[in-house]
Amino acid sequence: MSDDSVDPINLNGYSRKLEKLLRVDQVKFFVRDATHWSELPQKWELANRYNLRKINRESGADFIVTYGNNYNNVISGFSMRQLPACCGICLLTNNHVTYKFTNKGVATLLGKMQKDLAIWCGYTTLLCTGIAHNISQKKALRRNGWRDLWRFLNSRSGNYVDISVLDLDPKRKSYSLLGKPSQAMKVSCKDTLLAKFIKFFFAPLFKFSR
Ligand SMILES: CC(C)(COP(=O)(O)OP(=O)(O)OC[C@H]1O[C@@H](n2cnc3c(N)ncnc32)[C@H](O)[C@@H]1OP(=O)(O)O)[C@@H](O)C(=O)NCCC(=O)NCCS
Repeated sequence: MSDDSVDPINLNGYSRKLEKLLRVDQVKFFVRDATHWSELPQKWELANRYNLRKINRESGADFIVTYGNNYNNVISGFSMRQLPACCGICLLTNNHVTYKFTNKGVATLLGKMQKDLAIWCGYTTLLCTGIAHNISQKKALRRNGWRDLWRFLNSRSGNYVDISVLDLDPKRKSYSLLGKPSQAMKVSCKDTLLAKFIKFFFAPLFKFSR
């Protein structure tokens, strides 16, 4: 995709698709500095090839997708930013779809757009976290090729949280350093059985030799 393009990731195409999907008109994409999270709506700018570059900052960019002629008609929102200290990773957060538009494929479609955006900005990997039992998020992520990397029990929230990644450039041959959980389980079971076997048969010998 060319940097000089007026609509570098075909936002117009995504607008038309969302209009058709949700049967609404005038779908638009707005961007603002993520640091302005708590400020008033006038900070939002219509997305263009200049402000989309905010994604390349660690402070990042917030997005809203609206319809009709009103900022309050929000279909979805999300934030994208560079992971501090690693310019190859784009962090995707605050992904949400307005309740009345959920389960219609919005997150799945916008997931493709987020991928296009991250690639256009020059990233190699997209990263996000999510609660492990958030089925709709999982489905939308998996449909777009995301892979779960790690699950942990968050000591602050008590939730199981998954860290997931999306490879943006398969030619670079990125890969997981983690073994399959089933393999790890098998190894630890084998170790335990072997330890029991040795203890059972050889422990008496040690007793006699004393
Ligand atoms: C997670 C979220 C962004 C998904 O958005 P969405 O537009 O509804 O997602 P999609 O429609 O693309 O895909 C959701 C899929 O999950 C399915 N689904 C939803 N609830 C389900 C359930 N309880 N069991 C099984 N499948 C379920 C939907 O049917 C849909 O699949 P389908 O297309 O095969 O019917 C949205 O639900 C949301 O905003 N949730 C609150 C915020 C949040 O959790 N954000 C993510 C963490 S930052």
